[in-house]
Amino acid sequence: MEFFIGKGSNIKLITVYEDQETVGTQKELFKFIKEEAFFKGKSGETYGDFSLNGEKVLFLGLGKKDKVTLNSIRKAFFKSAKELSKFKVDEIEIKINDHFDLEVKDLVGAIAEGFLQSEYVFDKYISEKKDKTKLEKVYMDIEDLKEEELESTIQEVKNVVDGIFLSRDLINERAINMYPEILANSAKENLEPLKVKVEIFGREKIEELGMRAFSAVSEGSTKEPKFIVMTYNGDTQSDEKIALVGKGVTYDSGGYSLKPSGSMDTMHSDMGGSGTVIGAMKAIAASKLKKNIVGVVAACENMISGGAYKPGDIIGSMSGKTIEVLNTDAEGRLTIADALYYAATVVKADKIIDLATLTGACVVALGDVNTGAISNNDELMKDIKEASELSGEPIWELPTNEEYGELIKSEVADLKNVGGKGAGTITAGLFLKEFVNEKPWVHLDIAGTAYLDKEMGYLPKGATGVHVKTLYNMVKNQ
Ligand code: BES
Ligand code: MN
Ligand code: ZN
Repeated sequence: MEFFIGKGSNIKLITVYEDQETVGTQKELFKFIKEEAFFKGKSGETYGDFSLNGEKVLFLGLGKKDKVTLNSIRKAFFKSAKELSKFKVDEIEIKINDHFDLEVKDLVGAIAEGFLQSEYVFDKYISEKKDKTKLEKVYMDIEDLKEEELESTIQEVKNVVDGIFLSRDLINERAINMYPEILANSAKENLEPLKVKVEIFGREKIEELGMRAFSAVSEGSTKEPKFIVMTYNGDTQSDEKIALVGKGVTYDSGGYSLKPSGSMDTMHSDMGGSGTVIGAMKAIAASKLKKNIVGVVAACENMISGGAYKPGDIIGSMSGKTIEVLNTDAEGRLTIADALYYAATVVKADKIIDLATLTGACVVALGDVNTGAISNNDELMKDIKEASELSGEPIWELPTNEEYGELIKSEVADLKNVGGKGAGTITAGLFLKEFVNEKPWVHLDIAGTAYLDKEMGYLPKGATGVHVKTLYNMVKNQ
């Protein structure tokens, strides 16, 4: 898809508000469809007139004027792009007279993102692919838009959308073809060309580093665990580093605390956090952000075999803390514990953000709309919340009262890996907090938001790539 300034096509997209009485061009058609109640102008609503001889026009509703946001614009334009492809339209001219109090580059960015998001499909396993008409040329007739501004904005949006699509592809891939070695190689293939150093440690090095918690989880699988460290030095003048840690369980059967079979169907997506981190690193490096970012992923499978770890085991960790394993299905926190400790002490990151499909309890509490968050630092939490709002990827912070921490104390070890029935997302988060060495840290539980069973706005069914944008914007605005 290519974007241009000004007029250029006789197929027009005209945006209208719900409370709008008339339009500049196509007055009669607009009056007719309003009077006949074919079209109200609700956000994302479309009405197309593609008759043979008449002018070709698509009305796109934006809802009530005072309710327009960046995300409602993304969603509306996404829907219009889907509609245009039904009419087999491959070029369009967009006329917009209003900036909705937004900066023109943010407005253009949101429109472009909505259009670009419409191109995602995961159809590699479908033998007869659906014929797709793609929008090839988009002309933006928008007041005050300058050439340089258009170019740099579009390039940045394309980099971010590429990162989101990479993240979705990695997460949608099934575990038979996406195990630790493949995940590590994908990181290498995608990031090395962008001057990101990618180091991959195998079992021997993982043992040598003392990552007993991570390695215990990996032991039931025939697939070798891989510890992946991705280093992007965008600012050689500064020592400051942000670590992005992603859960990389490429399949979660639950281990001996076996999951019911229905719950296993989507557990190839349990590396969602690492898919997000790799996608975000790609966007950050492609846009050459002047920041130092280190991605850390402890990738393994949680399986069953004679060598697998067992409920009741007491294991160590890189930090030296010991852990009583009372449920082998609470494996994510064990793998991330060592990754966090590595980020805090070896990488020596100043700030740490982790993303993990960590708890079913988070899905119960927040569904698939909000990501759950736990933090030890209000300032970092605030920065992430701001970035998430800008990105249209909502996050809800959960409380961390000391009393919750009591629930993960063990009588025979320093910690236990489950905290009982209540507050499962909070106890999982507080478990992780034990391994960040007091560094400013935010944990994002994406169990509900990383993978959808039904599409939502521009987020497709399956992997969403959610928080690639949040991470990108957060890093950019630091
Ligand atoms: N990967 C799951 C969490 C999950 C559940 C992600 C549903 C996406 C959708 C995680 O490893 C897990 O199994 N957590 C357990 C923890 C429990 C045993 C304390 C859970 O949530 O049931
Ligand atoms: Mn599990
Ligand atoms: Zn898991």
